[in-house]
Amino acid sequence: MNNKEIVAKAIFDVVKDDLSLEQVQQLLENPKSTDHGDVAFPAFSLAKVYRKAPQQIAADLAGKIDGANFEKIEVVGPYLNFFMSKGMISANVLQTVMEQKSHFGDSTVGNHGKVPIDLSSPNIAKPISMGHLRSTVIGNSIGFILEKIGYEPVRINHLGDWGTQFGKLIVAYKKWGSEAAVKENPITELLRLYVEFHEVAETETELNDEARAWFKRLEEDDQEAIGLWQWFREESLKEFNKIYDMLGVSFDSLNGEAFYNDKMSEITDMLEEKHLLSESEGAEIVDLSAYDLNPALIRKSDGATLYITRDLAAALYRKRTYDFAKSIYVVGNEQSYHFKQLKAVLKEMGFDWQDEMTHVPFGLITQGGKKLSTRKGKIVLLEEVLNEAIDSAREQISEKNPDLENKEEVAKQVGVGAVVFHDLKNDRLNNFDFTLEEVVRFEGETGPYVQYTHARAMSILQKAGYEENAAKNLQLNDEESWEIIKLIQKYPETILLAAEKYEPSVIAKHAIKLAQAFNKYYAHTKILVDDEQKEARLALVHAVAILLKEDLRLLGVQAPNKM
Ligand code: ARG
Repeated sequence: MNNKEIVAKAIFDVVKDDLSLEQVQQLLENPKSTDHGDVAFPAFSLAKVYRKAPQQIAADLAGKIDGANFEKIEVVGPYLNFFMSKGMISANVLQTVMEQKSHFGDSTVGNHGKVPIDLSSPNIAKPISMGHLRSTVIGNSIGFILEKIGYEPVRINHLGDWGTQFGKLIVAYKKWGSEAAVKENPITELLRLYVEFHEVAETETELNDEARAWFKRLEEDDQEAIGLWQWFREESLKEFNKIYDMLGVSFDSLNGEAFYNDKMSEITDMLEEKHLLSESEGAEIVDLSAYDLNPALIRKSDGATLYITRDLAAALYRKRTYDFAKSIYVVGNEQSYHFKQLKAVLKEMGFDWQDEMTHVPFGLITQGGKKLSTRKGKIVLLEEVLNEAIDSAREQISEKNPDLENKEEVAKQVGVGAVVFHDLKNDRLNNFDFTLEEVVRFEGETGPYVQYTHARAMSILQKAGYEENAAKNLQLNDEESWEIIKLIQKYPETILLAAEKYEPSVIAKHAIKLAQAFNKYYAHTKILVDDEQKEARLALVHAVAILLKEDLRLLGVQAPNKM
């Protein structure tokens, strides 16, 4: 039980006949300063029932409430200020964490409902961008968070492996490419070809017709076209997998856009049957003016399907395959309009489950204030960023802890952790400007700081020869530990909030606060001194280690025991 629940219960026992437990709970307030206790109850709303002044009611209640869990109950005018008994609460909280370990904060809210999460979804033959990194780490973390509250996440990498750009790529490859060059350096070479196509096509516009023709062959299952496409896809995936391995991210499905090739005619048939398609300059569209949206373009005049057509097929496929409780799309802010149109078309088709589909957008990463664009070949290569972060971690470890075993593995965990945490610590909708120095910074509110705090807690336990044993006194009364206890107490609701808002930053912020509170405690307290509270202090250290590790796990970040 959290403090509010404990206070609500104590008040309810006295006012049972007049207020429900929920009513009491809703009236409770968080005092602005700790001088006014941990929880406050304003007595105004009982004035009518009891026909007395609120001040009088507050005073009466104070005399009747069972004080077992409170240090004191103060009456200040019409307010009752409850000061929790630190000893009772800390014992209770620590006991719970010792019992539940990393399962503390788990819940069954999700009831095993399946939740497809559309994440990462880079485009074949192009490098994974920083935007795709954001989608990957945010989506991955949301998966862990939802799993913790009882959902079953299904991580889907909706690869951008179809579309007219493959016509362009085939043309460019046939004109200027070679097998050896692609094999040597797949993504760089494919990107070079793609960029070259655009440059040349600016003057030689007939290249665009050739590209369209090749895409058509692709859509018609032409052997040569399919062969090249498949090869580009495989080579690209090999490169992507290097990054996914570094990040420790895996997927349950790699069904990308191409997978829906043979599933789009069902969609267009349905649209036709429901008289939703209309013609516009030879193309087929769905009118969405009722939603204040531009029409959705479903089929071009040459018969080619579009991004949204494939997303319609994918949405239906996911409903049928997973019978999802929710369906989530972790895709940049700039595609918000697309997802509005997607949901609107599904709604027009009569699918009420589109209500359960949510676009989870995120802000843009800029560099020097400018948007990053692949087409011009300007791009921060993710692999380079990760490698630089690992280098920087290796350096710092060599300085601080030269004798550390498995230095290389820890450098990876810390370097990659820094990049991931940096991405997740701010509200996902915030835009941010990317500088490598900022990402590999280890002080302040960073992943390595949290990892380091976890390792510190682990080393204290090791030094103490800490062993858990059941019956012991876990009461703590000091101010510094109380700050930690309150953060632990808030854990379950923190997880629920993060899940409800699809917001990993809620977890990251909790981790930082907990790490800061713990470091303050560590600076103030002789943890290892032999007295009757030593066991309780060690249990607190243990609880902090458990929760920091769990916070990091939920973010997709490793927690080495030593660093
Ligand atoms: N491949 C797309 C891009 O890089 C993202 C795909 C997002 N997922 C989806 N179902 N539309 O922009």
